[in-house]
Amino acid sequence: MSVQSRYKSFHYIQDLSKFIGQEVELRGWVYDRTKKGKLQFIQLRDGTGIVQCVLFKGAVTEEIFDKASEISQETSVKIKGTVRQEERSPSGVELDVLDITIIGHSQDYPITPKEHGDEFLMENRHLWLRSTRQHAIMRVRARVVKAIRDFFDSNGFILQDSPIFTPAAGEGTSTLFSTKYFELGDVYLAQTGQLYAEATAMAHGKVYTFGPTFRAEKSKTRRHLTEFWMVEPEMAFFDLEDDMDLAEDLVEYIVQSVLADCRPELVLLERDIEKLEKVKRPFHRMSYTEAVKWLNENDVKLIKKNADGTESHIDFPWGEDFGAPQEEALMRQFDKPCIVHRYPAEVKAFYMKRDPENPLCALAMDMLAPDDAGEIIGGSQREDDMEALVHRINEEGLPMEAFEWYVDLRKYGSVPHAGFGMGLERVVKWITGAKHIREAIPFPRTPYRVVP
Ligand code: 4AD
Ligand code: MG
Repeated sequence: MSVQSRYKSFHYIQDLSKFIGQEVELRGWVYDRTKKGKLQFIQLRDGTGIVQCVLFKGAVTEEIFDKASEISQETSVKIKGTVRQEERSPSGVELDVLDITIIGHSQDYPITPKEHGDEFLMENRHLWLRSTRQHAIMRVRARVVKAIRDFFDSNGFILQDSPIFTPAAGEGTSTLFSTKYFELGDVYLAQTGQLYAEATAMAHGKVYTFGPTFRAEKSKTRRHLTEFWMVEPEMAFFDLEDDMDLAEDLVEYIVQSVLADCRPELVLLERDIEKLEKVKRPFHRMSYTEAVKWLNENDVKLIKKNADGTESHIDFPWGEDFGAPQEEALMRQFDKPCIVHRYPAEVKAFYMKRDPENPLCALAMDMLAPDDAGEIIGGSQREDDMEALVHRINEEGLPMEAFEWYVDLRKYGSVPHAGFGMGLERVVKWITGAKHIREAIPFPRTPYRVVP
C-alpha cells in the first residue's frame, strides 16, 4: 500500500500517465485558461506538474461550461475527468473534463503572464513561488539538500546540529548580528557552525552540521544573503588534501544527483545541461600563488579607487584577497569547478593552520564554480596547536573567555583535523542558472528586505 492511498482519494498530475483511459479527480490551481468557441482549456497545476484540461461544450452540461468560463487565474478547483494520451503535450497526457468544483476564488491575482519588475516579484514572493521557474528552482533546491544528506549519511558522517545563539564570532567580527539574551548580555547569530563541529568531530570522528547561518553584510551582490544555509563537514585526522578530495566528491555527487532526477526542471530553466554533465572528478586545482600569477599573465588588472575619485588599474598584488572580478576571470577558462588553495593567512580566519612550507600561507581552500557562480565552498585544515591558536585569538583581539572551550579541544587530545562550509544557495544558484541568489531560497533575507 502506498502512503498516498491512506489519504483522500484524489490523483496527482505527475501520476496521470498511469491512468490513461480512466476517470480521475485532480485538485489544484488554475494557472491559465483560454476559450476557443466550443472549447475551453484550463492549465491546472497541483505542485507535482501542470496538465491541460479540456472542456468540450457538448461533453459537459451548459452550467459546468459557463462556470468554467468565469474561473480566474489561481482559483483553486477540483476537476474530474478522463485521462487521454496526447503526444503533443509535454506531459504526454491531457484531461477531458467531466466536472469542475470551485474550492477557493482568486480575484485579481497580481502576478500575470506579463513581465514584472524584480522588486514587484520580491514583494509578492509568497505568490511568486507558484510560478514555473521558481517552482523548478525550489525542486532543485530540495534535491540538492537530499543529495547532501545522502552523501554524508552514507559515508559515515554523523549529523550534529550547532547552535544559532553564540557567544562569539566564528568568521570575523565585522558581520555579526547581535541580540539581547536575558541577563547574559549580547549574543550573536551564528555565522558558522564550524567551531561546534570541531568539538563534535572529536566525539564522533566525522560530523556535519547543516542549518541557517547569518551574516550582517550590507553587500548588495547577486551572491550574498544575510541568512543562508550552510552544510559544514568536519573530520578528525583529515588534512587539507583529504578536505579538498571530500569537497570534490560532494559537489560531483550533488550535480550528478540533480542531473539524474531534475532534468525536466533544468530543461524548463534552460540550463546548459552538457556543462553540468562535465562536473566530474578531478576538478581543477591551483594554489593562490599560481592563481595570482595567472591573473597577472593574463592582464586581469585590479581596479583600485584612489582618494581623488580616479581609478588605478594595477597588477594583482600577492597578499590581497580575491573579489568577484578575479574569481570570474579565473573561472572563465573552466567548465568545472576549481579549488584554489593556500591563501595568504592574513586574509583568512584565525583558526586556520599555517602552511608548514610557507608560514605566510594558510592551509585554506576555496572551491570556485564556473558560470559566474563564484565561491561555493570555503574550508581549511584547522590550527591544532594550542599555543599557535591562543596567539592567533589574541592577535585578532577576540574575547578569550568566549573561546576557552574551543582552546580546550587542543588541550585534550588534539589531532589534525579539517573541514569546509558549502553555501546551499550558492550551489542552487549555480546549478539552476538563477540570475540572483535570492531566487535560490523560498524567503530570502537581504539587507534591504525582510518581507514577506
Ligand atoms: O567561506 P565561509 O565564510 O567559511 C566559513 O564560514 C567556514 N567556517 C566554513 C567551514 O570551514 N566550516 O563560508 C562558507 C560558504 C561560502 O563558500 C559560500 O558558499 C557561503 O558559505 N556563503 C554565503 N552564501 C550566501 N550569502 C552569504 N553572505 C555567504 N557567505 C558565505
Ligand atoms: Mg569564504
